[in-house]
Amino acid sequence: MSQSDQITFAYWVPNVSGGLVVSNIEQRTDWSYDYNVRLAQAAENSGFEYALTQIRFTAGYNAENQHESVSFSHGILAKTERLKVIAAILPGPWKPALAAKQLATIDHLSNGRIAINVVSGWFRGEFDAIGEAWPEHDERYARSEEFIRSLKGIWTQNNFSFDGKYYQFKDYTLSPKPLQKPHIEIFQGGSSRAARDMASRVSDWYFTNGNTPAELKKQIDDIREKVKANGHSVKIGVNAFIIARDTEEEAHAVLQEIIDQANTEAVNAFGEAAREAGAATAEGEGNWAKSTFEDLVQYNDGFKTNLIGTPQQIAERIVELKSAGVNLVLSGFLHFIEEVEYFGEKVLPLVRELEAQPHLPAKSA
Ligand SMILES: Cc1cc2nc3c(=O)[nH]c(=O)nc-3n(C[C@H](O)[C@H](O)[C@H](O)COP(=O)(O)O)c2cc1C
Repeated sequence: MSQSDQITFAYWVPNVSGGLVVSNIEQRTDWSYDYNVRLAQAAENSGFEYALTQIRFTAGYNAENQHESVSFSHGILAKTERLKVIAAILPGPWKPALAAKQLATIDHLSNGRIAINVVSGWFRGEFDAIGEAWPEHDERYARSEEFIRSLKGIWTQNNFSFDGKYYQFKDYTLSPKPLQKPHIEIFQGGSSRAARDMASRVSDWYFTNGNTPAELKKQIDDIREKVKANGHSVKIGVNAFIIARDTEEEAHAVLQEIIDQANTEAVNAFGEAAREAGAATAEGEGNWAKSTFEDLVQYNDGFKTNLIGTPQQIAERIVELKSAGVNLVLSGFLHFIEEVEYFGEKVLPLVRELEAQPHLPAKSA
């Protein structure tokens, strides 16, 4: 099996305080630069290919401090050798000309290891706080699509012109262009119908919240059908909060403790704000549209993916995700550095063993 057929692993950069669960349980995780450098180095030595930084201008749910995504990503790239770092970018505060130029420079500084996650916004309070307009849900995606088309145009063409509803360019030539060809990789976060349609036209990667293989397969089949009709191709990444322990009992006890110690007020406030996401559309689909209180304790539904158990159980479930069409697992952990190392040592070799078995269906492209 070639490396490109293997499932890929990414982790959430804890550049936001409070860890990845909205709970008062102890989390041996830190949002400082120093901790994140050690984590990134541990991750690239443990088989992780990507790291994802988050963007928040303000946040509730125990995330009082938030380092900015692009500069933080650059800081991590400067201290690592192989890891690719995906910086979240929010159209609205970011304009495509500045983003394209900033990222092209970081691509040169990092020898082609920056990527971006275009996020379309779910937190109205944040936009209000920084004086940004709050277009309605599908309009946010229409703007994100133009944002991506603009980036691609700037990164790949000379004398780029674009006459969109949100952005216009006239004979613009960016120099130097990024090192990565055809361009810096573009991920997107969000899974409403508007998000899926955007992925099927312009994104390289579609990132979605945690879910079961059956539910993910429905989303993936929907996207693949549209992708085919558009002559595009897109890869799929899914969020998972991983609790790998030597015994199943231990792993489930940790999950129970996270939920028992949930910060109820912060989880409810987050659930309320998240209604501005896909649930706000006429079809009522998308991230958090069906999330329960327990799901929301991990703010991207990471428990639903059920990578909670022994290394063998988790490896088997990862291979099931792959069979459903998933190309990448985006992982969060309670105690990041130690659990990333445990994952690399105990889980990943089992995944590679299972993947090498001939009866597995090939990963769809
Ligand atoms: C993996 C992933 C990462 C995300 N990262 C961010 C982020 O850093 N900042 C942000 O404001 N929104 C982030 N989002 C939120 C999405 O951009 C989007 O607003 C949300 O998922 C609702 O989308 P929907 O209405 O299309 O379902 C992320 C979503 C996913 C799935």
